[in-house]
Amino acid sequence: MILIKLGGSIITNKQKPLTPNLSAINKIVSQLKKIKEPIIVVHGGGSFGHYWSVKYDMHTKPAKYNKKGVSAVKNSMIALNKIILDSFLKNGLNPYCLPPTDFMLGNKADQKKVREIAKIAKAGLVPISYGDVMWYGKNKFYILSGDKIMGILSKILKPRLVIFTLNVDGVYSDMRSKKLLREIKGKNPEISKVEMDVTGGMSRKIKEAISISKSGTKVLLVNGNNPDRIVNAAKGKFEGTLFKR
Ligand code: IPE
Repeated sequence: MILIKLGGSIITNKQKPLTPNLSAINKIVSQLKKIKEPIIVVHGGGSFGHYWSVKYDMHTKPAKYNKKGVSAVKNSMIALNKIILDSFLKNGLNPYCLPPTDFMLGNKADQKKVREIAKIAKAGLVPISYGDVMWYGKNKFYILSGDKIMGILSKILKPRLVIFTLNVDGVYSDMRSKKLLREIKGKNPEISKVEMDVTGGMSRKIKEAISISKSGTKVLLVNGNNPDRIVNAAKGKFEGTLFKR
Protein backbone atom coordinates (compact mmCIF):
# COMPACT_ATOMS: atom_id res chain seq x y z
CA MET A 1 0.00 0.00 0.00
CA ILE A 2 1.17 3.51 -0.84
CA LEU A 3 0.20 6.73 0.91
CA ILE A 4 0.26 9.85 -1.26
CA LYS A 5 -0.04 13.51 -0.27
CA LEU A 6 -1.12 15.97 -2.92
CA GLY A 7 0.46 19.22 -1.79
CA GLY A 8 -1.60 22.39 -1.83
CA SER A 9 1.11 24.09 -3.87
CA ILE A 10 0.45 21.63 -6.71
CA ILE A 11 -3.34 21.24 -6.67
CA THR A 12 -4.04 24.97 -6.24
CA ASN A 13 -2.59 28.21 -7.50
CA LYS A 14 -1.03 29.48 -4.26
CA GLN A 15 -0.78 33.05 -5.60
CA LYS A 16 -4.51 33.26 -6.33
CA PRO A 17 -7.00 32.75 -3.47
CA LEU A 18 -9.49 29.93 -3.95
CA THR A 19 -8.14 28.84 -7.33
CA PRO A 20 -7.64 25.16 -8.12
CA ASN A 21 -4.95 24.04 -10.55
CA LEU A 22 -7.23 21.80 -12.57
CA SER A 23 -4.70 20.74 -15.17
CA ALA A 24 -2.19 19.69 -12.47
CA ILE A 25 -4.92 17.77 -10.63
CA ASN A 26 -6.04 15.90 -13.75
CA LYS A 27 -2.44 15.20 -14.80
CA ILE A 28 -1.64 13.65 -11.42
CA VAL A 29 -4.85 11.67 -11.16
CA SER A 30 -4.48 10.20 -14.65
CA GLN A 31 -0.97 9.01 -13.68
CA LEU A 32 -2.18 7.50 -10.40
CA LYS A 33 -4.32 5.16 -12.48
CA LYS A 34 -1.13 3.37 -13.52
CA ILE A 35 -0.33 2.32 -9.94
CA LYS A 36 -1.47 -1.26 -9.53
CA GLU A 37 -1.70 -1.46 -5.74
CA PRO A 38 -3.91 0.06 -3.05
CA ILE A 39 -3.35 3.79 -2.52
CA ILE A 40 -4.59 6.25 0.08
CA VAL A 41 -4.58 9.95 -0.81
CA VAL A 42 -4.40 13.01 1.44
CA HIS A 43 -4.51 16.54 0.06
CA GLY A 44 -3.53 19.91 1.45
CA GLY A 45 -5.25 23.27 1.59
CA GLY A 46 -3.18 25.50 -0.71
CA SER A 47 -4.97 28.70 -1.65
CA PHE A 48 -8.25 27.32 -0.24
CA GLY A 49 -7.75 26.37 3.45
CA HIS A 50 -4.58 28.39 3.95
CA TYR A 51 -6.17 31.51 2.50
CA TRP A 52 -8.89 31.60 5.16
CA SER A 53 -6.62 30.32 7.95
CA VAL A 54 -4.27 33.24 7.39
CA LYS A 55 -7.15 35.71 7.05
CA TYR A 56 -8.65 34.67 10.38
CA ASP A 57 -5.30 34.05 12.11
CA MET A 58 -5.96 30.37 12.73
CA HIS A 59 -3.17 27.92 13.51
CA THR A 60 -2.35 24.33 14.45
CA LYS A 61 -2.56 25.27 18.14
CA PRO A 62 -6.03 24.62 19.62
CA ALA A 63 -7.67 27.96 20.48
CA LYS A 64 -10.96 29.84 20.44
CA TYR A 65 -10.74 31.06 16.84
CA ASN A 66 -13.23 33.28 15.06
CA LYS A 67 -16.31 31.15 14.35
CA LYS A 68 -16.81 32.59 10.89
CA GLY A 69 -13.19 31.72 10.18
CA VAL A 70 -13.76 28.11 11.25
CA SER A 71 -16.73 27.85 8.90
CA ALA A 72 -14.89 29.53 6.04
CA VAL A 73 -11.89 27.19 6.29
CA LYS A 74 -14.12 24.13 6.57
CA ASN A 75 -16.29 25.15 3.60
CA SER A 76 -13.30 25.95 1.43
CA MET A 77 -11.73 22.55 2.13
CA ILE A 78 -14.96 20.80 1.20
CA ALA A 79 -15.02 22.78 -2.05
CA LEU A 80 -11.43 21.80 -2.88
CA ASN A 81 -12.05 18.19 -1.84
CA LYS A 82 -15.05 18.04 -4.19
CA ILE A 83 -12.87 19.14 -7.10
CA ILE A 84 -10.36 16.39 -6.27
CA LEU A 85 -13.09 13.76 -5.86
CA ASP A 86 -14.64 14.70 -9.21
CA SER A 87 -11.28 14.41 -10.94
CA PHE A 88 -10.73 10.92 -9.50
CA LEU A 89 -14.19 9.79 -10.52
CA LYS A 90 -13.84 11.25 -14.02
CA ASN A 91 -10.52 9.44 -14.45
CA GLY A 92 -11.96 6.07 -13.56
CA LEU A 93 -10.52 5.85 -10.06
CA ASN A 94 -13.14 5.37 -7.37
CA PRO A 95 -12.59 7.97 -4.64
CA TYR A 96 -14.00 7.52 -1.16
CA CYS A 97 -14.21 10.81 0.70
CA LEU A 98 -12.88 10.65 4.26
CA PRO A 99 -12.82 14.00 6.08
CA PRO A 100 -10.46 13.72 9.07
CA THR A 101 -13.47 14.06 11.40
CA ASP A 102 -14.22 10.45 10.33
CA PHE A 103 -11.17 9.09 12.15
CA MET A 104 -10.07 11.79 14.60
CA LEU A 105 -11.47 12.73 17.99
CA GLY A 106 -9.99 15.96 19.31
CA ASN A 107 -6.35 15.65 18.29
CA LYS A 108 -6.23 11.87 18.66
CA ALA A 109 -6.70 9.28 15.94
CA ASP A 110 -9.23 6.49 16.39
CA GLN A 111 -6.96 3.52 15.59
CA LYS A 112 -9.84 1.21 14.75
CA LYS A 113 -11.30 3.65 12.24
CA VAL A 114 -7.90 4.30 10.69
CA ARG A 115 -7.42 0.57 10.15
CA GLU A 116 -10.72 0.47 8.27
CA ILE A 117 -9.28 3.00 5.80
CA ALA A 118 -6.72 0.40 4.67
CA LYS A 119 -9.54 -2.08 4.10
CA ILE A 120 -11.38 0.45 1.91
CA ALA A 121 -8.19 0.90 -0.14
CA LYS A 122 -7.70 -2.85 -0.48
CA ALA A 123 -11.34 -3.20 -1.58
CA GLY A 124 -10.44 -1.14 -4.65
CA LEU A 125 -11.54 2.36 -3.72
CA VAL A 126 -9.22 5.31 -3.12
CA PRO A 127 -9.76 6.80 0.34
CA ILE A 128 -9.19 10.56 0.13
CA SER A 129 -8.66 12.69 3.22
CA TYR A 130 -7.49 16.29 3.59
CA GLY A 131 -6.11 18.93 5.94
CA ASP A 132 -8.99 20.57 7.77
CA VAL A 133 -10.13 22.67 10.70
CA MET A 134 -10.98 20.39 13.61
CA TRP A 135 -13.10 20.58 16.72
CA TYR A 136 -10.81 20.16 19.72
CA GLY A 137 -13.33 20.52 22.57
CA LYS A 138 -13.87 23.27 25.17
CA ASN A 139 -14.86 25.78 22.43
CA LYS A 140 -11.51 25.32 20.76
CA PHE A 141 -10.62 24.41 17.17
CA TYR A 142 -7.29 23.73 15.45
CA ILE A 143 -5.87 23.38 11.96
CA LEU A 144 -4.88 19.81 11.18
CA SER A 145 -2.48 19.73 8.24
CA GLY A 146 -2.52 17.07 5.58
CA ASP A 147 1.13 16.39 6.45
CA LYS A 148 0.15 15.58 10.00
CA ILE A 149 -2.56 13.22 8.70
CA MET A 150 0.16 11.51 6.63
CA GLY A 151 2.12 10.93 9.85
CA ILE A 152 -0.92 9.60 11.70
CA LEU A 153 -1.95 7.20 8.91
CA SER A 154 1.64 5.99 8.35
CA LYS A 155 2.18 5.20 11.99
CA ILE A 156 -0.93 3.02 12.20
CA LEU A 157 -1.09 1.53 8.69
CA LYS A 158 2.64 1.17 7.94
CA PRO A 159 2.39 1.55 4.15
CA ARG A 160 5.40 0.33 2.17
CA LEU A 161 5.95 3.80 0.69
CA VAL A 162 4.90 7.35 1.54
CA ILE A 163 5.01 10.07 -1.13
CA PHE A 164 4.67 13.83 -0.66
CA THR A 165 4.15 15.79 -3.89
CA LEU A 166 5.54 19.33 -3.98
CA ASN A 167 6.04 21.99 -6.63
CA VAL A 168 9.83 21.64 -6.41
CA ASP A 169 12.04 18.62 -7.14
CA GLY A 170 12.58 17.79 -3.47
CA VAL A 171 14.70 19.25 -0.67
CA TYR A 172 17.45 21.59 -1.81
CA SER A 173 20.61 22.07 0.25
CA ASP A 174 20.15 25.79 -0.37
CA MET A 175 17.84 27.85 -2.52
CA ARG A 176 20.61 29.59 -4.50
CA SER A 177 22.45 26.60 -5.92
CA LYS A 178 19.25 24.50 -5.87
CA LYS A 179 21.35 21.43 -5.24
CA LEU A 180 18.93 18.56 -4.70
CA LEU A 181 19.46 16.30 -1.70
CA ARG A 182 18.73 12.86 -3.14
CA GLU A 183 18.77 10.97 0.12
CA ILE A 184 18.36 11.93 3.76
CA LYS A 185 19.07 9.39 6.45
CA GLY A 186 17.91 9.84 10.01
CA LYS A 187 18.68 13.40 10.93
CA ASN A 188 17.48 16.85 10.01
CA PRO A 189 19.36 18.27 7.00
CA GLU A 190 20.95 21.71 6.98
CA ILE A 191 18.64 23.73 4.78
CA SER A 192 18.21 27.42 4.25
CA LYS A 193 15.13 29.12 5.63
CA VAL A 194 12.04 28.61 3.52
CA GLU A 195 8.76 30.47 3.37
CA MET A 196 6.18 29.54 5.98
CA ASP A 197 2.43 29.02 5.92
CA VAL A 198 0.05 28.34 8.81
CA THR A 199 1.06 24.69 9.08
CA GLY A 200 4.81 25.23 8.71
CA GLY A 201 5.57 24.76 5.00
CA MET A 202 8.64 22.80 3.93
CA SER A 203 10.30 22.48 7.35
CA ARG A 204 7.13 20.89 8.74
CA LYS A 205 7.15 18.45 5.80
CA ILE A 206 10.77 17.49 6.42
CA LYS A 207 10.08 16.93 10.11
CA GLU A 208 7.11 14.73 9.26
CA ALA A 209 9.10 12.81 6.61
CA ILE A 210 11.93 12.12 9.08
CA SER A 211 9.50 11.03 11.74
CA ILE A 212 7.71 8.62 9.34
CA SER A 213 10.99 7.20 7.98
CA LYS A 214 12.12 6.40 11.54
CA SER A 215 9.66 3.50 11.63
CA GLY A 216 11.29 2.01 8.52
CA THR A 217 8.87 3.34 5.87
CA LYS A 218 10.54 4.99 2.88
CA VAL A 219 9.36 8.56 2.32
CA LEU A 220 9.79 10.35 -1.01
CA LEU A 221 9.41 14.09 -1.60
CA VAL A 222 8.73 14.44 -5.30
CA ASN A 223 7.80 17.10 -7.86
CA GLY A 224 4.07 16.78 -8.54
CA ASN A 225 4.46 18.70 -11.82
CA ASN A 226 6.08 15.52 -13.13
CA PRO A 227 3.53 12.98 -11.92
CA ASP A 228 5.23 10.15 -13.84
CA ARG A 229 7.74 10.34 -10.97
CA ILE A 230 4.99 9.16 -8.61
CA VAL A 231 4.42 6.10 -10.80
CA ASN A 232 8.18 5.52 -11.07
CA ALA A 233 8.50 5.71 -7.29
CA ALA A 234 5.83 3.01 -6.97
CA LYS A 235 8.11 0.87 -9.16
CA GLY A 236 11.17 1.61 -7.01
CA LYS A 237 12.75 4.36 -9.12
CA PHE A 238 13.13 7.48 -6.99
CA GLU A 239 13.51 10.96 -8.50
CA GLY A 240 13.32 13.44 -5.64
CA THR A 241 14.46 13.36 -2.02
CA LEU A 242 14.22 9.97 -0.40
CA PHE A 243 14.10 9.71 3.41
CA LYS A 244 15.31 6.46 4.91
CA ARG A 245 15.78 5.25 8.45
C1 IPE B 1 -3.76 22.66 5.33
O1 IPE B 1 -3.23 21.41 5.06
C2 IPE B 1 -5.17 22.57 5.80
C3 IPE B 1 -5.79 23.88 6.10
C4 IPE B 1 -5.20 25.04 6.04
C5 IPE B 1 -7.17 23.82 6.50
P1 IPE B 1 -1.71 21.34 4.57
O2 IPE B 1 -0.84 22.15 5.48
O3 IPE B 1 -1.34 19.91 4.44
O4 IPE B 1 -1.79 22.05 3.15
P2 IPE B 1 -0.65 22.34 2.07
O5 IPE B 1 -0.39 21.08 1.33
O6 IPE B 1 0.57 22.84 2.82
O7 IPE B 1 -1.26 23.41 1.20
